[in-house]
Amino acid sequence: MEKILYSELQNLPLKKGQNLASFESTNTDLNDFLKNDALVDQEWLVSKTYLCCWKKSITGYITLVTDTLEVKVVDEQDGIKGYPYHKYPCVRIARLAVDKTFEGRGIGRFLMLAAIGMAMDVSSKIGCRYITVDSKPESVGFYEKHGFKLIEKYKDSDFPKMYLNMYPIIERM
Ligand SMILES: CC(C)(COP(=O)(O)OP(=O)(O)OC[C@H]1O[C@@H](n2cnc3c(N)ncnc32)[C@H](O)[C@@H]1OP(=O)(O)O)[C@@H](O)C(=O)NCCC(=O)NCCS
Repeated sequence: MEKILYSELQNLPLKKGQNLASFESTNTDLNDFLKNDALVDQEWLVSKTYLCCWKKSITGYITLVTDTLEVKVVDEQDGIKGYPYHKYPCVRIARLAVDKTFEGRGIGRFLMLAAIGMAMDVSSKIGCRYITVDSKPESVGFYEKHGFKLIEKYKDSDFPKMYLNMYPIIERM
């Protein structure tokens, strides 16, 4: 399937009145969340959702929240020596889904890059060092491809927890 040019994609905040009815990823929970809960959660300030739009289609979405990550589950090279607290501050990918008719065309990567960009923006204003996600087992490879590490302690859980260390990404810029 041909990739969609990133210059043709838009990452737009979810707003009242958008027609979400046609969105259908392979995961029904993720479809239900977008259609029934995302806006309400956003109004309660507990999550923020962005839609990836191409022409008139909603091709995917991502939901972000704040999070913390236990210091002891982070690999030595990703942590801070002598950090005096038990948890690091992070942004979490709470939901990410691509419409099934658009899978394999670069939308997941576009949403991931948008999440990294937004987490970098947060970290320029508020302490935030990692991006976390509770992955679906079948999506671990997708996150690994984008630099996420699987946390050993959670590797056999139903939703394996992973993290991306933003420090080297920001340092390189
Ligand atoms: C996982 C998901 C978000 C990927 O989105 P996508 O738009 O199809 O992915 P992209 O086309 O951007 O792929 C980017 C890269 O990741 C790879 N990739 C995609 N899905 C993958 C998977 N499940 N496992 C391993 N690699 C994967 C692609 O091969 C591609 O690599 P390449 O550039 O080297 O070819 C999408 O399949 C989806 O929504 N699945 C159902 C819901 C889900 O699992 N969400 C994540 C749960 S937290």
